[in-house]
Amino acid sequence: MSPGPKWKIRLLETPDEMILVEGLERMVWPGSETDVTPYHLLLTAAHNGGLVLGAFVGEELVGVAFGFPGFYPTPDGPRLKHCSHILAVHPEWRGRGIGFALKRAQWQLVRHQGIDRITWTYDPLLSRNAFLNIARLGAVCNTYLRSAYGEMRDQLNTGLPSDRFQVDWWVNTQRVERRLGRRPRPVMTLDHYLSAETPLLAARLDLGGTPRPASEPLHLNGTLLLVEIPADFNALKQVDLAQARSWRFYVREIFENAFQAGYLVTDFVYEEGRSFYVLMQGESAF
Ligand SMILES: CC(C)(COP(=O)(O)OP(=O)(O)OC[C@H]1O[C@@H](n2cnc3c(N)ncnc32)[C@H](O)[C@@H]1OP(=O)(O)O)[C@@H](O)C(=O)NCCC(=O)NCCS
Repeated sequence: MSPGPKWKIRLLETPDEMILVEGLERMVWPGSETDVTPYHLLLTAAHNGGLVLGAFVGEELVGVAFGFPGFYPTPDGPRLKHCSHILAVHPEWRGRGIGFALKRAQWQLVRHQGIDRITWTYDPLLSRNAFLNIARLGAVCNTYLRSAYGEMRDQLNTGLPSDRFQVDWWVNTQRVERRLGRRPRPVMTLDHYLSAETPLLAARLDLGGTPRPASEPLHLNGTLLLVEIPADFNALKQVDLAQARSWRFYVREIFENAFQAGYLVTDFVYEEGRSFYVLMQGESAF
């Protein structure tokens, strides 16, 4: 489907292929066998409109994207969407475009099914995921889910409330087509935003240059807002769980208020080791 320099992406359809997915999930989210998606569920989904996409290097599965059709409510009744549930890339193969290529393949196939919306959730404090989802893929967000999955049991997620962004990927919009097209789109830099006097929330820098959640009261004003998050939240969690918790609650407050005030997350800037969400007030998601 979309060949990378070293990997190939294809749809998975057999029991043996789904068992490879179980193995990859076990590696990416270690520590809870209960949380591995069972191969028979993947298989049943794949045979009933779901999509299990694999990235292979030779015979080795190095990445997977899994989702299935679902519904969302509208005033005219339920409408079809694709609910994307899992995206995972083997740790040794990250940062080479495999996550992007898997999502691009998902985008093509979901469009082919005649569906125009894909949703998924991710931890808003994960800078790499944010960059991929918002900046590279063109997903937008105005939905903050507190403790979306309750107490999670795997090693990657244990210890903090499982707050999530639920993002919308409107797959037929110009926003998304431009970002997935062959011609690179002009990228907005931090300088662009700061020279437009965009207010910056968060992030007092400590002596080591690490951002810490600000303690001042929240002022949301202006059409544009920048919200800084740590560039490597997983590393921070390892060394300072208390500070990681402060970030969780700080970011929860900002985004719950911002979404209520009509802001939409439209972009993400990752520059020189610092990470910023861009929010616009009154911007359409389409
Ligand atoms: C999220 C994940 C799937 C991304 O896969 P990937 O193959 O590394 O993704 P890509 O290489 O296509 O894209 C990652 C982008 O983030 C950038 N990036 C790397 N570190 C970053 C950071 N700290 N902050 C922001 N962006 C970062 C990369 O440069 C790359 O952008 P580029 O293609 O413009 O260079 C992978 O990291 C993963 O499996 N994580 C664990 C499981 C997970 O979180 N899954 C998603 C939620 S269910």
